[in-house]
Amino acid sequence: MNHFQYKGTELFAENVAVKDIVAKVGSPVYIYSHATLERHFKAFDNAFNGVAHTICYSVKANSTQSVLKTFINLGGGVDIVSGGELYRALKAGVDPHKVVYSGVGKKNDEIEYALNTGILMFNVESEQELTRISEIASRMGKKAGIAIRVNPDVDPGTHPYITTGLKNAKFGITIDRAMEEYKRAATLPGIEVIGIDMHIGSQLTKVTPFVDSIEKLKIMIGKLKDLGINLQYFDCGGGLGIQYNEEEPPLPADYGKEIVAATKDLGMHLVFEPGRNIVGNAGILTATTLFTKERDDKNFIMIDAGMNDLARPALYGSFHGVQPVVKDQDGMIVADIVGPICESGDFLVKDREVPMFKQGDLMAFMSAGAYGFAMSSSYNSRPRVAEVMVKGEKFEVIREREKVEDLVRGETVASFL
Ligand code: LLP
Repeated sequence: MNHFQYKGTELFAENVAVKDIVAKVGSPVYIYSHATLERHFKAFDNAFNGVAHTICYSVKANSTQSVLKTFINLGGGVDIVSGGELYRALKAGVDPHKVVYSGVGKKNDEIEYALNTGILMFNVESEQELTRISEIASRMGKKAGIAIRVNPDVDPGTHPYITTGLKNAKFGITIDRAMEEYKRAATLPGIEVIGIDMHIGSQLTKVTPFVDSIEKLKIMIGKLKDLGINLQYFDCGGGLGIQYNEEEPPLPADYGKEIVAATKDLGMHLVFEPGRNIVGNAGILTATTLFTKERDDKNFIMIDAGMNDLARPALYGSFHGVQPVVKDQDGMIVADIVGPICESGDFLVKDREVPMFKQGDLMAFMSAGAYGFAMSSSYNSRPRVAEVMVKGEKFEVIREREKVEDLVRGETVASFL
């Protein structure tokens, strides 16, 4: 359930007509519903009522500060993968003790920054990273809380580009090496072993791969206990999918029931890193029809948003529903909806029956809250678009549309030219 619904023929974001937002802010624009963000965060959080847990929202899905602040206000922490994400989250007011730091390529200055901040834990993804964190922490006279990200070798059944928990993926330490690394970690001077972590992939539509992975990790947790290494935190990662088209992902409550059942004997503090599940359906991207082109065998609708604004269809062949902002089209047409970028991969919709948009018509790409703006770029020197948050009858610009001057900020023409 989200708060983008029609009232009569007009699409609304909560109580604001989308066309009024575009009239004021321009096109294209990302629009987020605050009520939907809250609702989805709470649904995830409530799925673990009665169990010690922290929801560490995965900043990469949508790192805009107003989005982060919405979750921080509800008691959320964050999962970060860079110093930049840490900076954003701190600016938005996150409690450092609710920050977990994942990622296969942490740089020295990022590790130092996280240690100075006093984050809860590093999710360590390689043997060398473990050694490096210990060295840096020791030099700083600190101890770094760590979990090992264990790669459980379980197939999440999702797109290959977002599958992370199979043995051939670059992520985590394989399960056959993880025991040894835990033993080594326990002897390192700059390390405090506090948890275990997994993240097996994104847009999962079944709970079974999560539970299978947890079962594998549980065996390790038991063996570590026998060695006197007691872990407090079990970070189950993110990855719970959403409905874009005809998928039927489990509800957070159902996911929660199974995860709680699988982990309850452990008595550990659970950590979750949801991204898409909370923000995906809380955002839309609106665009304007510039031109249409009808050929004998193919129709194109050219719009003012492209793969630089919403990369998912070009990158993964992802489906995003498209709806008119005002329903006044004369029927349907099979067409590609394409952007202005000079690449044939620049499509948002491919060979699909869509309303017969005409010049000037506005359309909304649904479920664009996750990995939408966050993955956008200024390719083809297109300024990145504005972002708006709606709450009830109110809306505010939470990120200004970039200007052409922003495109050359920091650039210098070499003095020898
Ligand atoms: N934790 C870690 C360590 C991750 O790598 C990710 C996502 C998450 C949590 C959050 O996963 P989520 O709950 O959002 O599924 N750009 C792709 C998705 C990439 C996911 C990367 N990692 C897309 O647009 O589908």
